[in-house]
Amino acid sequence: MNILILGSGGRECTLAWKLAQSSKCGDLFIAPGNAGTVKFGTNLELNPNDFKQVKEAVLNHDIQMVIVGPEDPLVLGIHDFFLEDNDLKNIPVIGPQKYAAQLEGSKEFAKEFMYRHDIPTAQYKSFTVENLEEGYQFLETLHAPYVLKADGLAAGKGVLILNDLQEAKKELEEMLGQQKFGAASSKVVIEEFLDGIEMSSFVLTDSENYVILPNAKDYKRIGEGDKGLNTGGMGAISPVPFADAEFLSKVEKRVIIPTIEGLKKDQIAYVGFIFIGLIRVNNEPYVIEYNVRMGDPETEVVIPRIKSDLVELFKATADKKLNNFNLDIDQRSATTVMMVSGGYPEAYDKGMQITGLEKVEDSIVFQAGTKLSGDKILTSGGRVLAVTSYGVDFKQALKQSYKNIEKIHFDKMNYRTDIGFDL
Ligand code: AMP
Ligand code: GLY
Repeated sequence: MNILILGSGGRECTLAWKLAQSSKCGDLFIAPGNAGTVKFGTNLELNPNDFKQVKEAVLNHDIQMVIVGPEDPLVLGIHDFFLEDNDLKNIPVIGPQKYAAQLEGSKEFAKEFMYRHDIPTAQYKSFTVENLEEGYQFLETLHAPYVLKADGLAAGKGVLILNDLQEAKKELEEMLGQQKFGAASSKVVIEEFLDGIEMSSFVLTDSENYVILPNAKDYKRIGEGDKGLNTGGMGAISPVPFADAEFLSKVEKRVIIPTIEGLKKDQIAYVGFIFIGLIRVNNEPYVIEYNVRMGDPETEVVIPRIKSDLVELFKATADKKLNNFNLDIDQRSATTVMMVSGGYPEAYDKGMQITGLEKVEDSIVFQAGTKLSGDKILTSGGRVLAVTSYGVDFKQALKQSYKNIEKIHFDKMNYRTDIGFDL
C-alpha cells in the first residue's frame, strides 16, 4: 500500500519511521517532510493546505492512504475534500472531517460538546465584543488565576492565564475589541482555573470502535522548571508514572467512552486520532482540551512504544475493524528531548549545520525543523531534533537521550535538562 503522510515535523518523521518498518508499506511519501523523513520515504514539495496539490500527488503516485499530521488541513476540511471528489473518495484519510475538527478548531465547540455529554471540564462562558461588559462581570465572579482562551486556532498562543483581575479585563478587551489573535479571538472562552498536574491520552477511533494508545506528558515551556514562554513542546515521556490503573480507568470511563459515545450521539463520523489534554485534580480527570491529531513531541514517545504494525493499525481504522485489533505495547518507558534553535520560541536563526548525528547510539533522532543542503543537514525551524530513548523507567531513558545530545551540535542549540522534573 502506497501511503502519504502530510506534515513536516518530528511527529511526521516518527510516523514515517514506524510505517516504513511495515512489510505492508509500499512506497511512502511525506509532504513536505524534512531532512530526516528522506530516510524512510520520498519527500514531496507541496503545501498540505493546498488540496489541489495534494490531489495531484495522490493520483500521480497511486497513493492508497493519507495520514494527516497537523491540524490545519483537517480544520480546513481535507477529509471532506477527499469524500466529495470522485477520484479520491475511496482513498482513506486518517484524520476527522471539518465539522469534527472543530473539537480543536473552536474552544467553544469543544466546551459545548463536553457539557452536552457530561465530560468533566472546567466551568466556562464564552463572549464576543457585543457582550464584553458581561465578560468583565463574569471575570469578577471568578477567583484568580483567570483563564482566557481565543476560540479559534492561534498557533498555541491563544491561551492566557492571568493573576490580576484588571489585567484579565484588559486582555479580554484586547482579544475581543482589538482582535489580538485576529479572527481566532473574535470569541473568547473564559474558564475556571483548574489546579493540578497535566497529562495526555491518545485514542484512535474508526468512528465505531477505539483503541487507547500509550499516554504521555509533554513539557511546553521553554525554560527549566516550566518557566518562560510556551513552545510547541520541549520534551515528553511515556507512560506517565502518576497515571496508575485506577486513574486510567477513570479516564476511560469518564472521558474516553463518553467522548466516543458523544460523537455517535451527535452523528459525527470521526476517523482518526483524538488527543485529550487532561488535568488531574483530586485524583479526578478533567479535560483541558481536545486535539484532532497526534501531539508533537508526544508522538515521538507514543509511537515508538507501539509494537504492532502501524500500517495494519491504520488499515483496521479505515476498515472500521479496530474492535478486532490487539494493540501490542512496549512496556519500557520512552522519553524524548527536543533540541531547539537558540531564541525559539521567539526569533531565531536558521541554516545552522547539524553535526554528530552519526555518533548517536541507542537513541532515535527524529528530525523536525531540518532541511538538506547537498549532503549537509541544516536547521530550518525552531524545534530541530527530538532525541528519543527507551529505558526501564523514564529516568533511565532520559539519561540515554542526554548522553546522545552531547554528541550532536549546531550553533546556538538549546534544550531543557529537566524533562520529567515534576514527577
Ligand atoms: P489549551 O490550549 O486549552 O490546552 O491550554 C493551554 C495550556 O493552558 C494547557 O496546557 C494548560 O497548561 C493551561 N490551561 C488551559 N486551561 C486551563 C484551566 N482551565 N485551568 C488551568 N490551566 C489551564
Ligand atoms: N505538544 C502539544 C501539541 O502537540 O499540541
